[in-house]
Amino acid sequence: MRIDVVSIFPEYLAALDLSLIGKARQDGLLDLNVHDLRDFTTDRHRTVDDTPYGGGAGMVMKAEPWAQALASVAEAGNSGGDGGTRPVLIVPSPAGAVFTQTMAYELAEEKHLVFACGRYEGIDERVLEWSGERFDVRPVSLGDYVLNGGEVAVLAMVEAIGRLVPGVVGNPESLVEESHSDGLLEYPVYTKPSSWRDRNVPDILLSGNHGKIAQWRREQQLQRTAVRRPDLLEKFDVSQLTKADKAALAAMGYDVMKDRIQLRG
Ligand code: ADE
Repeated sequence: MRIDVVSIFPEYLAALDLSLIGKARQDGLLDLNVHDLRDFTTDRHRTVDDTPYGGGAGMVMKAEPWAQALASVAEAGNSGGDGGTRPVLIVPSPAGAVFTQTMAYELAEEKHLVFACGRYEGIDERVLEWSGERFDVRPVSLGDYVLNGGEVAVLAMVEAIGRLVPGVVGNPESLVEESHSDGLLEYPVYTKPSSWRDRNVPDILLSGNHGKIAQWRREQQLQRTAVRRPDLLEKFDVSQLTKADKAALAAMGYDVMKDRIQLRG
């Protein structure tokens, strides 16, 4: 997969040299390129922002440096010349659709992702319209809060997407049993020693009974999701529930209806 990130703070993205993503870059699984937006300016001061039309606080990122930068990365990504699918342009913004694990899975299938890190009050809206000619443009938010710019959001998204690219995570099994992979939160985990500061690992995990352990873990997932993220449980696909799941939910005070799970009122 090719990934291009355009930012006025390319140093911010240095963390993508580390850990699993850094190794995936070294191994050639991720072709990740970071670009300085100011390299696409033409004036002496390398200006990237200006005052907003209509007034108001803050500055807006100018259209032309973005157009130059995005045209350049679109061109670079198409060097194979296969003229295939359009690259996806992800524009991190608190005004975007909220990033989810489902979105991460979808984006992990793409050949070329481009991230445009806005700063200040955002990028001139015409850039997004213009980009639609060569990119599949997607404004994406990390969550309902405001960051100072898109860089931190890109670090999170590249990590979430990159780890789903085949080969990046050594043991793909670990991607199956993790939070959000099946719409539930992950079960609690423990390691040695089995007794630590008077706290013991649940006996079932020491029993060697794999069927019972799997059932316990599933119950823990349901219980944790019910307590921490009832919103996830209420939109969980009921057809995925086993008889044992339904019994566990009933014991937690939930009614399993035909099409949804609902807290008993
Ligand atoms: N830029 C500023 N706030 C953001 C957010 N919540 N998500 C993505 N990009 C952002």
